[in-house]
Amino acid sequence: MEHLSERIQRMEESSTFAMARLSKELQDKGIDIIKLTLGEPDFATPQHIKDAAKKAIDDGETFYTPVQGNADLVEAIINKFKNENNIEYNKNQILVSNGAKHTITNIFMTIIDEDNEIIIPVPYWGTYKEIVNLAHGTQVFVEGSFENQFKITAQQLRDKITNKTRAIFLNSPSNPTGAAYTKKEMKEIADIIKKHPKVMLVSDEIYEHLKFDEKHESFAQFDYIKDQLILVNGVSKAYAMTGWRIGYMAAPEWVTRACKKLQGQTTSGASSISQKAAVAALNTKSDIYKERIAILKERRDFVVEEIKKIPGLKYNIPSATFYIFPDFSAYYGKFFKNKQINTSFEMSMYLLSEAKVGLVAGSGFGVDKCLRLSFTEDVKILKEAFNRIKKALDNLK
Ligand SMILES: Cc1ncc(COP(=O)(O)O)c(C=O)c1O
Repeated sequence: MEHLSERIQRMEESSTFAMARLSKELQDKGIDIIKLTLGEPDFATPQHIKDAAKKAIDDGETFYTPVQGNADLVEAIINKFKNENNIEYNKNQILVSNGAKHTITNIFMTIIDEDNEIIIPVPYWGTYKEIVNLAHGTQVFVEGSFENQFKITAQQLRDKITNKTRAIFLNSPSNPTGAAYTKKEMKEIADIIKKHPKVMLVSDEIYEHLKFDEKHESFAQFDYIKDQLILVNGVSKAYAMTGWRIGYMAAPEWVTRACKKLQGQTTSGASSISQKAAVAALNTKSDIYKERIAILKERRDFVVEEIKKIPGLKYNIPSATFYIFPDFSAYYGKFFKNKQINTSFEMSMYLLSEAKVGLVAGSGFGVDKCLRLSFTEDVKILKEAFNRIKKALDNLK
């Protein structure tokens, strides 16, 4: 007899993976689908990183690794925080995991007790919501205005903090909006966190290297909240290493120690080969990804121009990442043949079946009027995608 735990039944599948899978199924049937669903560009991992992994295999780096991560990777991470974010950590504060998603799971399973409130800005990356759920925490959502690129204000945060608040999760630059908080906005938030010593700030900065114009602003710069700050990062997005599965955190020692205990009982240390590759990545001079950012920026500009041409679509211009999160709601209520489209899910299914373009429904990020488009393909493919989207939207009556 099938029996699933109540905790897994309560969990929703990742809407991004669900849509990516559906798009791939259609592609495999020979249907010409343009997939703008996943959070990974078409870039290859740089050669010197691949070479480091090959060398690791040849050098016999095939054994279990320390739970915390190899000493050389931990050191590279400490140096990264020092050089790029101007914050000092010791090795007991660092933990390497199997991707930042795993890092986040460790953190939430470690710091959340039943009914603790976790403040999650909307739109959110779906994993935050589901892992809080898994940890039996209470999700407290706060939605910024569309005009403010969905960024929450310090005042909104202040209004949500209660004596049950355990943590706030912030993700700047953001998936799915591509928006990044300014230094001033961050400082106002940091000042509030400081007033609530029991509240932890979990700052997911995995898109830090994908900013188009200004430099990245990190919560690390507010040293007066260091005791409450947990930094999440990884190599997936910056170095085109999504498949290598290396993420990491820096936190007060008591948090890192507990996460390490959990990881020691669940997954152990991350892949020995990927860790060597990650050392090579973190020791990369920043010029390597500048070229890629220029490509992403060109795509961003192209996508914005195309969206502008579609009547009714509202949008914000992303200042980072490879995502844009336009508002399609002007088309809700319209019909294709006898079928009415009322939700982002229905719109994503319509665009998949009629335009043969895969986008992710905004409902998976908590905002039903929007859909997320990843500009992870080259401009030629994006052009074709927009021709199709435009035509399909025109066909809605
Ligand atoms: C906001 C955010 N954090 C973390 C991750 C996870 O990255 P990783 O590949 O290291 O698990 C993603 C991936 O999409 C993300 O969008």
